[in-house]
Amino acid sequence: MIGLGYVGVPVAAALADAGIRAVGIDVDEAKVRAVNAGKSPLTGREPDLDALVRRHGEKRLKATTDYGACRTADAVLVAVETPIDEDTKKPNYRALRAVLRSLGPNLKRGALVSIESTIAPGTMERLVKPYLERSSHMRWPRDFLLVHTPERLTAGKLLYNLVNLDRVVGADDPRSLRKAIRLYERIMKGAIHPTNWLTAEIVKTAENTYWDVQLGLANEFALIAEDYGVDAYEVRRLVNTCPQRALLVPGAGVGGHCIPKDPWLLVSGMSSFRPWLIPSAREVNDFMPERMATLAAEALRAAGRALPGARVAILGFAYKENTDDARNSPAIPLIRILRRRGAEVRIHDPYVKRQRGFRVSRKLADVLEGADAAVLVTAHDTYRRADWPALGRRMRRKVFVDGRCLWEKPLRGWVYRGIGRGQF
Ligand SMILES: NC(=O)c1ccc[n+]([C@@H]2O[C@H](COP(=O)([O-])OP(=O)(O)OC[C@H]3O[C@@H](n4cnc5c(N)ncnc54)[C@H](O)[C@@H]3O)[C@@H](O)[C@H]2O)c1
Repeated sequence: MIGLGYVGVPVAAALADAGIRAVGIDVDEAKVRAVNAGKSPLTGREPDLDALVRRHGEKRLKATTDYGACRTADAVLVAVETPIDEDTKKPNYRALRAVLRSLGPNLKRGALVSIESTIAPGTMERLVKPYLERSSHMRWPRDFLLVHTPERLTAGKLLYNLVNLDRVVGADDPRSLRKAIRLYERIMKGAIHPTNWLTAEIVKTAENTYWDVQLGLANEFALIAEDYGVDAYEVRRLVNTCPQRALLVPGAGVGGHCIPKDPWLLVSGMSSFRPWLIPSAREVNDFMPERMATLAAEALRAAGRALPGARVAILGFAYKENTDDARNSPAIPLIRILRRRGAEVRIHDPYVKRQRGFRVSRKLADVLEGADAAVLVTAHDTYRRADWPALGRRMRRKVFVDGRCLWEKPLRGWVYRGIGRGQF
C-alpha cells in the first residue's frame, strides 16, 4: 500500500484483517513509525480503525519508507495525494510521478498495480501506463497488470465506506480485471462494478462534482434566503417535501482534499468547449468563507464593535465535524480575510493538531476568553455540548456567527448571525 493517508491506512488495515500480509510505504517517517508501533497516524474519530491497526501491527501489517518492499508484492495499491495547482486549477501529479518512478524498478513481474488515487480523465493512459512501463522496463499487460480503482472513503467513516460501499474498477484488459476483483472481494462487502480506465476516472471525479454542484446550489439558496430575510433551513425542509427533491445543507464553505479539487480534475482535460455550471458552483462554494466574514462584521457592528481590532474566536479548523482533516478547510480563507480586515483571530479545534502557519488550541474556554465574537466553522460535537451561557460569561461580547446552523435560535442576550439564517 503506497501512501499511508486517509485512504492508505484503512486499506492496509483492511487487507491485513483479511489475512493478507500488508506493507505500507510512505515518505513520511512519522506515519511509518506510528503504524509500526501499532497506532493509526490519523487522529480524528475513525471507528474501529485504531483497533484494527493495533491488532495487526507488527504481524500482518508493517510499514516502511523503502520501495524494496514492492519486490515481493503480488499487488501494489497506490493512494497518494493528487491535488490541483492553486492558480491554474490543473492536476499536480508530483507525488504520483514520484511513486511511479520509485515503484517501476521494484515491481515484480506479473504483479497488479491498482491506482486508487483520484485522477483526471486520461491519466491512466497518458501518464500512469507509460511512466510505469518506462521505469519498470516492462510492458502492460504482458508483464504487469494495471487497474484504476478509485476510492469512496470519507473522513469519519473510512473503514465503513471501504468495506460496505460499491466500487468501480476500471481495467483495460481482462486479466487485470480478474485479479483486481479477486483482491478487492477479500476486503469488500459492496458490489464491484467493472468498467474501463477512462470511464472509471470520469465516474470518480463526476461523483464528487455532483456533490460540489449540489452544495453550490444549497449555498446559493442560503444566500437567497438571507437576502429575503427567511430561514434557508426551513426552506430546505419544505422543498424536500416535494418528490425528487433532496436539497443539501448549506454552510460556511466546502473543504477536504477531494470535493474542492475533483471538479477541476474532471474538466481539466476538456478541449472542445468550456464547462459553465461546474466552475460556477466552485465559485459559490469558495465565496462562503467571505460571507462568513461579512456576517461576523455585521454581528460585531450590531454588538457595538468594529471588526478591526476585534478579537474573534474561530471554532473548528477541520473541514468536517469530529475529524482532524483540515485540508482545504474553509476556516483557512476565513481566518485570512478576518486578519486582513484587522481582526485578532484565535483558533480552536478539538482534533486538529499542528497546522503550518496557524496556532490551533484545544482549550475552548481559553480561546473564548475576552473574545468579541465566536465564529463557528465546523459542527464538532464539542460545540453542540458546550455550556454556552457559561462560555458567554468569559467573552467580552456575546456574539455568535453560526456557519453550520448549530443553534436552533439565538440564546437570550446574544447577537446571532448565521449562514442561511435570514430571519435573525
Ligand atoms: N481522503 C479521502 O477521504 C479520499 C476519498 C476518496 C479518494 N481519495 C483520493 O485518494 C488519494 C489519497 O488521498 P488521502 O486523503 O489518503 O491523501 P493523504 O494526503 O492523507 O495521504 C497521502 C499519503 O501519501 C504519501 N506520499 C506522498 N508521496 C509519496 C511517495 N512518493 N511515496 C510514498 N508515499 C507518498 C504522503 O506522505 C501521505 O501520507 C487522493 O487522490 C484523493 O483524492 C481520498
